[in-house]
Amino acid sequence: AAVPHAAEQVAVAAEKRWAWVVAAIIALLLVMMVVTGLHWAAMPPSRVETVDVKTLHVKGEFVESNLGTTLGSDGKVMVRLVAQQYSFMPPCIVVPAEMSVTFRATATDTIHGFIVGTTNANTMLIPGFVATFTTSFKKPGEHLMPCHEYCGTGHEAMWARVQVLP
Ligand code: CUA
Repeated sequence: AAVPHAAEQVAVAAEKRWAWVVAAIIALLLVMMVVTGLHWAAMPPSRVETVDVKTLHVKGEFVESNLGTTLGSDGKVMVRLVAQQYSFMPPCIVVPAEMSVTFRATATDTIHGFIVGTTNANTMLIPGFVATFTTSFKKPGEHLMPCHEYCGTGHEAMWARVQVLP
């Protein structure tokens, strides 16, 4: 039997090393997929809370008189809004700058969404679910708040206005 050449031994060793590196990368990717998959499956970022679309307008926190900006007794600013084809209720939202503002919103008919100007306030609204997030607006000004999920023929005319007060 031929004795393997030294160079061949070096090549075989290098191939084995790289095979381990590739196997480790694949294993790492699989672990990341499983961990993030379980994490998001167990704890979605929003839309966890449900709300009855049929009674939304007549009782509970999304009745018309309860929409808009409120300052809670705990000093927290809360904005509640409802999206429907093809408007947001309320159509004009006033919030303070440099304060933490929590949004709670839902949709009545189909999927909508909104983004406030160029800020990071951005969410999707799904009928039957409450989308909630907290953000703060750095500087005073006025922002357009368009619907950013295609929701029908009036989609591009669906927007509200957000005024950030100093
Ligand atoms: Cu509502 Cu697009």
